[in-house]
Amino acid sequence: MNPNLSLRIICAFILGALLQVAALGAYANDLPDAVSPYATTPESVVNQMLLLAQVGPDDFVVDLGSGDGRVVIAAIKKFNARAGFGVDIDASLVGYSNAKAQEAGVADRAKFYLRDMFKTDIREASVVTVYLLPEGMNKLRSKLLTELKPGTRVVAHDYQFQGWPVDRIVSFDVPEKNDYTARRETSLYLYIVPSPKVSAVSRPAAALSSEDEPAAK
Ligand SMILES: C[S@@+](CC[C@H](N)C(=O)[O-])C[C@H]1O[C@@H](n2cnc3c(N)ncnc32)[C@H](O)[C@@H]1O
Repeated sequence: MNPNLSLRIICAFILGALLQVAALGAYANDLPDAVSPYATTPESVVNQMLLLAQVGPDDFVVDLGSGDGRVVIAAIKKFNARAGFGVDIDASLVGYSNAKAQEAGVADRAKFYLRDMFKTDIREASVVTVYLLPEGMNKLRSKLLTELKPGTRVVAHDYQFQGWPVDRIVSFDVPEKNDYTARRETSLYLYIVPSPKVSAVSRPAAALSSEDEPAAK
């Protein structure tokens, strides 16, 4: 074979391989961060979560990592929440949830999206629910605190947010619990999103007028 031709073939091969590596790298950067495997919250615990958040007709409920959609569907069907949505990175769970919402007659108010929770707009929520492993909880905390309106209730199943003081804890036995820890007790944590801290404004001493001075005794 002509040595020039074989050199060109080798160069084309190397270039092709490099392009493939670059494409795979870009794809990996776009992959969502899976912060929890799939496990369902037992229905009895779903009820307690929605009771703890005091879900009612004014609420918009968002479940981050929504699994089979049970939390949002129960919020609307049983607690009469105004509307809500769930997001999950598992397409089959999202499809199943939308079919379940249809079957339950709440598909106009309960929507499920194939979406990374960290890239989801959550500003409409008045209640957020989560059932994630501790690492995911801590990754999510600053998003919740910066994006949610003050007063939004966040209910976490079994795992707490580190460094965010909890407002209420409820613990109880759940014999039908089916996660991989073999525990039969569940704890629920209620957090209320605080108002942003207003830093104290101090006036310079020179700006004080005589009216500001304490009256002489
Ligand atoms: C423990 S399950 C909770 C399911 C449901 N919320 C419940 O309580 O029954 C956690 C879910 O989070 C989903 N998940 C993991 N990482 C995610 C991410 N970055 N964005 C959206 N969903 C994610 C998983 O696919 C899984 O369905």
